[in-house]
Amino acid sequence: MPLLALETSCDETSAAVVHQGRILSNVVSSQVTLHAEYGGVVPELAAREHLRNLIPVVQLALREASVIADQLDAVAATRGPGLPSALMVGLKAAQAVAFGLRRPFVGIHHHEAHLYSPWIQGQPPTADFAGLQPNVSLIVSGGHTLLVHVCSELDHRLLGSTVDDAAGECFDKTGKLIGLPYPAGPEIDRLSEGGKPKAFDFPRPLRDAPGDDFSFSGLKTSVRYFLRDHPKLLADPQSVRDLCASVQAAIVDVLVAKTLRAARRLRVRCITASGGVTCNRTLRQQLASACQREGLILLLAEKNLCTDNAAMIGILAERKLALRHEPTDLDADIRPNWALD
Ligand code: KG4
Ligand code: ZN
Repeated sequence: MPLLALETSCDETSAAVVHQGRILSNVVSSQVTLHAEYGGVVPELAAREHLRNLIPVVQLALREASVIADQLDAVAATRGPGLPSALMVGLKAAQAVAFGLRRPFVGIHHHEAHLYSPWIQGQPPTADFAGLQPNVSLIVSGGHTLLVHVCSELDHRLLGSTVDDAAGECFDKTGKLIGLPYPAGPEIDRLSEGGKPKAFDFPRPLRDAPGDDFSFSGLKTSVRYFLRDHPKLLADPQSVRDLCASVQAAIVDVLVAKTLRAARRLRVRCITASGGVTCNRTLRQQLASACQREGLILLLAEKNLCTDNAAMIGILAERKLALRHEPTDLDADIRPNWALD
């Protein structure tokens, strides 16, 4: 029987229905235009918007899956990490549905769901956990940059994370300096297509340092100084494209080099990637060519599963129940700072 999952950890209100590893529906209502005006996510606005959107999003997800509430076998929601007031909306709603239907509830770690999302492939999208092999997984979004060693299914160890800005945050903040609207990642990706990645030389922070941590705030600062020293550059469209391509090259170079190095060190034969920044075409291409060069298998989350969505929450929750993990208490609280380990 199917499972209903909710995701409200940041600025996407999402509901999905999954059944036996298959995504029957995955409705995502993005608040990006609402927050664009403020140049970033405003937590209280996000929570209010989740409240407004959750019921219509759930109704649509059930309708698209041709499922009625009574047919649900279990309910899941993101429990953390994320914005407290936003997490609260999805978690408490899911627990209320589970209570009303007398079904088990599963609270899911948002990053753990990202970690296994590259294993959902095909049409209709279906999870293949039987094929899972040890891998190094890169999770790159607006709030997080994580490198994780997945030893076997549901057994993983955090290798490193960012000590300051996340990779997506670096795209967004440098984009803001260039005058691009929030979130700037997709726009930098688009503009870079017509630019030269070697036009300007930006630092690759911590790329060659030992350890698996990342740091991106220095790169943003060097772009700020670069623009201060070249005040006329933004008036020339080709220079803007070159600047975007050069910044993007620096971010992608660090992500690819560190992911590949961790895979080599841990002797895994597989790399996976997910999170909003994994939509970036250059990152996808560079990971693909590096993996091909080194004979590694690469699994990139499908683009609609890279950004936040309830389908990945549902797939992991269903898997946990199938593997006889205990359901989560119906009065369990949100965990806004939940560590992955
Ligand atoms: O995973 P996500 O939807 O939300 C969270 O942050 O949790 O990721 C959003 C981030 C933003 O920083 C956005 O600029 C970035 O992903 N992003 C991209 C691209 N698409 C989204 N960055 C670079 N290139 C892209 N194509
Ligand atoms: Zn996410």
